[in-house]
Amino acid sequence: METTKKPTVAIVMGSKSDWPVLEHTVATLKEFGVESTVNIMSAHRTPHEATEFASNAAANGYQIIIGAAGGAAHLCGVLAGHTTLPVIGIPVKGWSLDGLDSLLSTVQMPKGVPVATVAIGKAGAINAAILAVQIMGLADPELGEKLIAFKKSMAAEVLKADAELQAELNG
Ligand code: RP5
Repeated sequence: METTKKPTVAIVMGSKSDWPVLEHTVATLKEFGVESTVNIMSAHRTPHEATEFASNAAANGYQIIIGAAGGAAHLCGVLAGHTTLPVIGIPVKGWSLDGLDSLLSTVQMPKGVPVATVAIGKAGAINAAILAVQIMGLADPELGEKLIAFKKSMAAEVLKADAELQAELNG
């Protein structure tokens, strides 16, 4: 699919170690022709940079922020506290607890400051991109068309897999 020029999605991850998950977000956005930027900013290690970035994100032309962090994952909440843009949060599996710590830290926001939290890890990273496209697609008919095509191709894959399975099982 064709790519647009100006990045509309800001991806912020807490550490370079989150990249193996976040690369799926970038790749999925690219499939829809959506450009993004990726930065490492930590709510704990570089709190000033993270808050500055979120505070200026709307003025810098971003429409959506996708955040990702593991462990005591405060990053998305901090970003959401400094912007009126929608923030999508990806919990990254950390060094223990299978990512449940990251999930709860990301999803359990107090009222008034939502973080649209997706699944832990790769599925969440892909879904964060699709959710961002769906939000932007409300005001962008071209993206809306791409989403319809995406749904159709996903359905076709499942139907093909089922047909192959039936052929294998039933000869
Ligand atoms: C979080 O701590 C990061 O988002 C990462 O998921 C986790 C571990 O960071 P590193 O110690 O690998 O830098 O802030």
